[in-house]
Amino acid sequence: MKEHLMRIWRFHEFGPIENLQLDEVPTPEPGADESLVELEYAALNPADKFLVNKMYPRPGKPPMAVGRDGSGRIVKPGNSGRFKEGDSVVILRSDIGVRRDGTLAEFVTVPEESLAPLPDGWSFEEGAAAPLVHLTAWRALVHQGEIHPGQTVLVTGSSGGVGTAAIQLAKAFGCRVFAMSRKEEKRKELLDLGADHALDSSDPGKMEEEAKAILGEERVHLVVENLGGPFLQTSINLSGEHGRILVIGLLAGLKSEIVLGQIIFKQTRIEGVQVGAWTAEEAQIAWAGIVEKLDASNQRPVIDQVFPFEEVQEAFTRLDEGPLGKVLVRVKD
Ligand SMILES: NC(=O)c1ccc[n+]([C@@H]2O[C@H](COP(=O)([O-])OP(=O)(O)OC[C@H]3O[C@@H](n4cnc5c(N)ncnc54)[C@H](OP(=O)(O)O)[C@@H]3O)[C@@H](O)[C@H]2O)c1
Repeated sequence: MKEHLMRIWRFHEFGPIENLQLDEVPTPEPGADESLVELEYAALNPADKFLVNKMYPRPGKPPMAVGRDGSGRIVKPGNSGRFKEGDSVVILRSDIGVRRDGTLAEFVTVPEESLAPLPDGWSFEEGAAAPLVHLTAWRALVHQGEIHPGQTVLVTGSSGGVGTAAIQLAKAFGCRVFAMSRKEEKRKELLDLGADHALDSSDPGKMEEEAKAILGEERVHLVVENLGGPFLQTSINLSGEHGRILVIGLLAGLKSEIVLGQIIFKQTRIEGVQVGAWTAEEAQIAWAGIVEKLDASNQRPVIDQVFPFEEVQEAFTRLDEGPLGKVLVRVKD
């Protein structure tokens, strides 16, 4: 019988993201508890680059495709009985694109416990854009941060995928949100997205002064920290007593120098957030909460730009430039 081939972007050795190459390989066969999904869209994440760079713990072995987010249709359902051929689905956080082939491919096999139906009324683009960043933001704000309506939330690196997700969810919970960007045009877009204030993050010190001028005597209850580096100290300075800083990313630096006295006197809680820590069952529950909150507040995931499948390298370049929301790849013509 003739083998069915598919196109897949794989790296054959660790190194720069330019190591990704477009290969043709046999379409994979799903295991009993897995579905074969024909992808419509895949979304990029900075961690894809970190993984190819060998900066990610316990990566899969090359040749391998990256890509953790995706939406598509079931081609071969597994044995869970939850899906049938033709169902529209999204992929929740799993080992896909971390320890096994990811979504930068025409087809991918996915454990059915990590699939969810495409939410009613959502496009495939929106379905691909949301899971990883919204599950991360939900873990920071809701699961670990326990936010309440009326609290003040600071989101660093707020124009990115996690940042825009955090703004949307914090607003859906009735919080006051401080966002930021180094670009004026994006600060306007963050206000349009619902942020109450949009700070200039070109210089962390000046950003802190700008925030303090608005806050007066108040300070923030919770920080979603996507940047790290020098921004961690400004996040500590802007936090109130018993403030919580949820550390998600390190785009502005792997290391931070911080003043310990501030943490002691303010009793600041600084916690790491790891989206991979969700179990499949917890991720399903969190995802249902995310969809409910976004739908109830008339919000949809923010998409920056969509690239054709052949232009994956250009899509990664766009991610480096600092997008507003998610960068997607259209897999199916
Ligand atoms: N812990 C987890 O489980 C988890 C999950 C998902 C993501 N992450 C991490 O979280 C971080 C954010 O991810 P993302 O997908 O939101 O990233 P993203 O889409 O690339 O966007 C991040 C934003 O941060 C700003 N930025 C980037 N470098 C900066 C710098 N040096 N100084 C100041 N601002 C800078 C840019 O905004 P402006 O250009 O507007 O200033 C950019 O749009 C990454 O480090 C990612 O690896 C962690």
